[in-house]
Amino acid sequence: MDERSLVLVFVINILMLVVAAQQINNDYVVLKSLKDVWENLPPSWDGTNPCQENWEGVGCTNSRVTSITLASMNLTGTLSGDIPVLSELLYLDLSYNKGLTGTLLPSIGNFKKLTNLILVGCGFSGIIPDAIGSLPSLRILSLNSNAFSGQIPPSIGKLSNLYWLDLSDNQLHGSIPVSTRTAPGLDMLFNTKHFHFGKNKLSGEVPAKLFENNQLTGNIPSTIGLVQSLEILRLDRNLFSGSVPPNLNNLTRVNELYLSNNKLSGPLPDLAGMNFLFYVDMSNNTFDVSDFPLQLTTLRSLTTIVMENTNIQGEVPLELFSIPQLQTVILRNNHLNGTIDVGSSFSNQLQLVDLQNNNISAPVQRAGDKSEIILIGNPYCESGGTEKYCTLPQQSNSSSYSTKTNNCVPALCSSDQRSSPNCICAYPYQGHLYFKAPSFSNLEDPSIYTSLQLSMMSFFQSTRLPVDSVSLSNPTKNLDDYLVITLEVFPLGQDRFNRTGISSIGFVFSNQTFKPNKTVYGTYYFNADNYGVFSSDAINRTSKSSSSGIAIGAAAGGSVLVLLLLLAGIYAFRQKKRAKRATQLSNPFGSWDSNSSSTGGPQLKGARCFSYEDLKKSTNNFSEANAIGSGGYGKVYRGSLPGGLLVAIKRADQQSMQGGHEFKTEIELLSRVHHKNVVSLMGFCFEQGEQMLVYEYIANGTLKESLSGKSGIRLDWNRRLRVALGAAKGLQYLHDLANPPIIHRDIKSNNILLDERLNAKVADFGLSKPMANRSRGHVTTQVKGTMGYLDPEYYMTQKLTEKSDVYSFGVVMLELITARRPIENGKYIVREVMLAMDKTKYMYNLQAILDPAFDLTMTPKGLEKFVDLAFSCVDETGEQRPAMSEVVKEIENIMLSAGFDPKADLASSSSEYKGSSMGYEHPYSDKSLFMLSATQIYQPPKVEPK
Ligand SMILES: *[C@@H]1O[C@H](CO)[C@@H](O)[C@H](O)[C@H]1NC(C)=O
Ligand SMILES: *[C@@H]1O[C@H](CO)[C@@H](O)[C@H](O)[C@H]1NC(C)=O
Ligand SMILES: *[C@@H]1O[C@H](CO)[C@@H](O)[C@H](O)[C@H]1NC(C)=O
Ligand SMILES: *[C@@H]1O[C@H](CO)[C@@H](O)[C@H](O)[C@H]1NC(C)=O
Ligand SMILES: *[C@@H]1O[C@H](CO)[C@@H](O)[C@H](O)[C@H]1NC(C)=O
Repeated sequence: MDERSLVLVFVINILMLVVAAQQINNDYVVLKSLKDVWENLPPSWDGTNPCQENWEGVGCTNSRVTSITLASMNLTGTLSGDIPVLSELLYLDLSYNKGLTGTLLPSIGNFKKLTNLILVGCGFSGIIPDAIGSLPSLRILSLNSNAFSGQIPPSIGKLSNLYWLDLSDNQLHGSIPVSTRTAPGLDMLFNTKHFHFGKNKLSGEVPAKLFENNQLTGNIPSTIGLVQSLEILRLDRNLFSGSVPPNLNNLTRVNELYLSNNKLSGPLPDLAGMNFLFYVDMSNNTFDVSDFPLQLTTLRSLTTIVMENTNIQGEVPLELFSIPQLQTVILRNNHLNGTIDVGSSFSNQLQLVDLQNNNISAPVQRAGDKSEIILIGNPYCESGGTEKYCTLPQQSNSSSYSTKTNNCVPALCSSDQRSSPNCICAYPYQGHLYFKAPSFSNLEDPSIYTSLQLSMMSFFQSTRLPVDSVSLSNPTKNLDDYLVITLEVFPLGQDRFNRTGISSIGFVFSNQTFKPNKTVYGTYYFNADNYGVFSSDAINRTSKSSSSGIAIGAAAGGSVLVLLLLLAGIYAFRQKKRAKRATQLSNPFGSWDSNSSSTGGPQLKGARCFSYEDLKKSTNNFSEANAIGSGGYGKVYRGSLPGGLLVAIKRADQQSMQGGHEFKTEIELLSRVHHKNVVSLMGFCFEQGEQMLVYEYIANGTLKESLSGKSGIRLDWNRRLRVALGAAKGLQYLHDLANPPIIHRDIKSNNILLDERLNAKVADFGLSKPMANRSRGHVTTQVKGTMGYLDPEYYMTQKLTEKSDVYSFGVVMLELITARRPIENGKYIVREVMLAMDKTKYMYNLQAILDPAFDLTMTPKGLEKFVDLAFSCVDETGEQRPAMSEVVKEIENIMLSAGFDPKADLASSSSEYKGSSMGYEHPYSDKSLFMLSATQIYQPPKVEPK
């Protein structure tokens, strides 16, 4: 490259920067214009750069606004025509802001990248503009529960990536548009799995074309056609007339079919072949039916048949009631006659058979099953039938269920706060879940709600949303026959959510990110109440600066910083003060590494920066009482963040401080590590000459403490295996899945922590080494580690591989069964077990060396295999040792053959053990630790096989 082209490249680069700067500027201008037209936008929308200043509800990538999620902000105003200038926007969620009114403007078609347009439960009205069809990337379009009117724009048919279409609960009228030679239609939506049009005023015939893909197949394989993909079809509560197209049963994948409350006539639709159908409702239509549709009995997935007031006559076939999953049959207000011979052929799931107001005359026999059968209004009851079938059962349309407290006494709260299931007063985020087609009809069964609550909670936990608990209450069937459940979501560690929390949780529901078990609950939508009590409206710039820095670091990286400086320059003469702050904000880590060329904040995923003051306060000024551990690097403290969230804070002492660069590298590495069996980093502090890492607090301490009996946790054989499995999985993750792969280098019982469910979590990456170049297979390093766990081969060659961790893990396995320290009175555990072992004898003759706390009245099944595995891990040559993935598999096999479920969650409480009174001198009573520094000479003990 000659000099001229270099200059040219340079100029082009500058130009690109300027263009980019302009766009940021535009994004800012658009959001600013929203500020002018909307009330109640977050107070954090202040300043001049949404991407650097961490505007709540605004997400950025490469300094462009890519998401606006502002559910439940009590926004009022109309959509500004400028908003589509946000040309990089992917997500727009404004749900549950009833004060957002007015129409959608045609300029909406300029969102060329938009994938999710979610406006559930707002106050929008007017027509849905044709331009909606010009959003080629759209996957989710949810406009339900607004006041849109006019027709469904045929252009929606052009949204070839659409997966979810919900237009229900509006005032749309006219017919469902299908394609013609010249115009698009919804039959072209090959990838759409959900069509929700219910609760509108749509009319005309249900278009047959919607259910075929003949003309359109062309080169599209029929397997991906609309016919194959549709899962839920709700056309109910409209004004559809005429007969149902005979090709409806082309929809072989449909789970839920709602045609109820229309003006449909003609023959009953033929559902034969719809083998995944579990819910069908055709009520309140006037079909011409002569006989009961026998084909229904062939649909073996059905749980619910609702065909009230559909004009059916004839006898109810007995086979109907033996459909294996069938729970509810509602056939009231028809002309059914003959006998209902209940007998033993009833499905044992069957709960309700409602045959009110038919012509059933003959007797009913009953084989003592629990289903409710209602025959009121039939000749049978009129001529004095059994009372059991002729009184209206206590059919409640609601239940008094509400989530129980978590073994605590509800707190007395001030009037507008509520006591959470964990008995803490707080302001919950409230609203109602509407289940459009639950598969169950007995609202009294509490397990329905508890399992929903548990799945929701585990969802929130896995997505790390700040949710303490959720409460479900007052399940009711509403007039639309939806099951409505009141939901309260309680904030974690605080008495109220901030705006980020609310908009994120709102999005979880508006975007259907949380999906309860579909076959039990069907689909749902959520409508939220206003949340008027956001925390921290006062703008706290000190804490914001750090988190916005992280957002940028994560999203953009180095080159953008240049851009920010440039931007700051642009603003400088107009807004000197503001620009100055923006620059500082953009690089909160500027002070770290000022002479390194590749400066910039650490690139963090999900970790945050804590101030020294925060952590000082949380540990009561690093008080001795809060010290929970120490090691070569310094001390570990327990800290309690505002709101009560516990954390473990690792504070480096002066000698073990790393350079800023190393520290940054370490936290970048740690923040990328996320696994159930690995302790995760929550944040860090790099301030006032301190380096601290903030981890999740793990309640039950180290495996070492548990083995010593100090923690009071009783480790039976099942639990020991589970701990081994968990730790092995954590390690396998580090080796095989972390990117870059990580060698832990210091696996020991002291670095395996147990949470309240006794899940093992691998901790302390102080010595971890990422494998920069995997193919090389090893890294050459100074030997570090802990005596007794150290791989002899690594020690000799200084070549570190994953197999060094496998060696240490083998030692931990031996420790797990013997509860002995790896080196005790000069004796090495590997050698001691090997000496004691006699493979020809029962339990390899290891009884004498096993942990005395082991209950030997119960044979530890698979102990031998476990010992074999441990010895293969401590093989002298790394190559001979198994990989962690193999170790995981083998421990799972041992568990299975011992009759334990490797996937089971031992939720049992951990406080049932009185270890201290066991009356033996425990080897771990000596607390001292052997840390091995590079200068110490350590001769790995020689192990001779027996
Ligand atoms: C769907 O139904 C139409 C009849 O309307 C038929 O021609 C077509 O082959 C069917 N498609 C499939 C995939 O069964
Ligand atoms: C059928 O119509 C009646 C009367 O309007 C209504 O009460 C009932 O809920 C409807 N049934 C269904 C299943 O929608
Ligand atoms: C039931 O009704 C159908 C016609 O609706 C009639 O043909 C049949 O005989 C009736 N069966 C009984 C048992 O009354
Ligand atoms: C909102 O709350 C969450 C957790 O409760 C916290 O992580 C976040 O930093 C807060 N955001 C702001 C802008 O205060
Ligand atoms: C919502 O905003 C309006 C004004 O825009 C205000 O009067 C009302 O109190 C707010 N409601 C809540 C719950 O904050």
